[in-house]
Amino acid sequence: MSLKTTHEIDIVKTSSTKINSVDFDTLTFGTTFTDHMLVCDFREGKWEKPVIKPYEPFLLDPSAKVFHYGQAIFEGMKAYKDENDDVWLFRPDQNLDRFNKSAKRMAMPEVEEWIFMEGMRQLIDLERDWVKKGLGNTLYIRPFMIAIGSGVIAAPSTQYRFMIILSPAKSYYSGEVKVIIAEHYSRAANGGIGAAKAAGNYSAQFYPTKLANEKGFQQIIWTDDATHTKLEEAGTMNVFFRINDTLYTAPTSERILDGVTRKSLIDIAHRDGVKVEERSVLVSELISAAKDGSLKEVFGAGTAAVVNPIIGFSYQDVYYELPKIENSVALQLKETLTNIQYKLAEDTFGWTVRV
Ligand SMILES: Cc1ncc(COP(=O)(O)O)c(C=O)c1O
Repeated sequence: MSLKTTHEIDIVKTSSTKINSVDFDTLTFGTTFTDHMLVCDFREGKWEKPVIKPYEPFLLDPSAKVFHYGQAIFEGMKAYKDENDDVWLFRPDQNLDRFNKSAKRMAMPEVEEWIFMEGMRQLIDLERDWVKKGLGNTLYIRPFMIAIGSGVIAAPSTQYRFMIILSPAKSYYSGEVKVIIAEHYSRAANGGIGAAKAAGNYSAQFYPTKLANEKGFQQIIWTDDATHTKLEEAGTMNVFFRINDTLYTAPTSERILDGVTRKSLIDIAHRDGVKVEERSVLVSELISAAKDGSLKEVFGAGTAAVVNPIIGFSYQDVYYELPKIENSVALQLKETLTNIQYKLAEDTFGWTVRV
């Protein structure tokens, strides 16, 4: 896949880079941003010309609809630098596709492919020096869209702003993760917006997650809203369970975000002979497997951490600890995937795209 097109994007460069003031060894995820950003507005039924300009705050009317009705969507992806100083994206077509599905669900305009892809390519190209070599170093890419039209009337905006901002990141380590299985709160419901990467899905998780944190747990494993019996996602990640030698993960649905990491791990597992099944896993099944010792691993999968092993879970106030294992399938899959992303292994799937 090629990202190059003939479309023009205006570039206004900063006169002073911040890069020399950044300590790339002590980055806190998502808090440092590069020198430039991409901005493209949608007005009068069409996308205007995108511009890459210095990273800076902008003004919005206090009645802008994003503040009142939450029309806001985003994506999260990464760029990687290989040993030859080439910069690579991982399956950006999947993020574009998901972004436009989110847009549709939130009654927002779909962004044109070239604005997303070529805009991202040119922005990253300009910020190449911010992508550092070495496993774990990445440039986190945050495309997003907000409703900027004014008026406190509960109806979709007619004006939107699409932007891309970039944040250098070190490998993401969240420490030992213990989770609570949701018995009351839900992250998504049938007919709702769980499959969209909509801002409101994340704010809705903050309060139940805060309650879990107060009890000493880092995340929640979300269950289906109707019965709270099916295991669906872990925090802001898809979730996998290894029972004996088989990996299980919930099938995607309108309650579950169709994660790029999830689908890539499934494809790698199929290729490498790891048994994997996409089917609902019941809470009762997980408890039985934990009790009889067949539950070997539980892990979250997402762009930020790639794979996030979970060391134990709580359900109805009983804590179940997972066994400490030597040959973690989660970590094997993580290594295989990151080796593809950093061009350390052959990309037999054709997932990587040069910037
Ligand atoms: C709710 C949720 N589930 C799953 C994922 C994993 O998706 P991806 O692998 O595309 O990052 C994310 C985002 O990162 C998420 O926010």
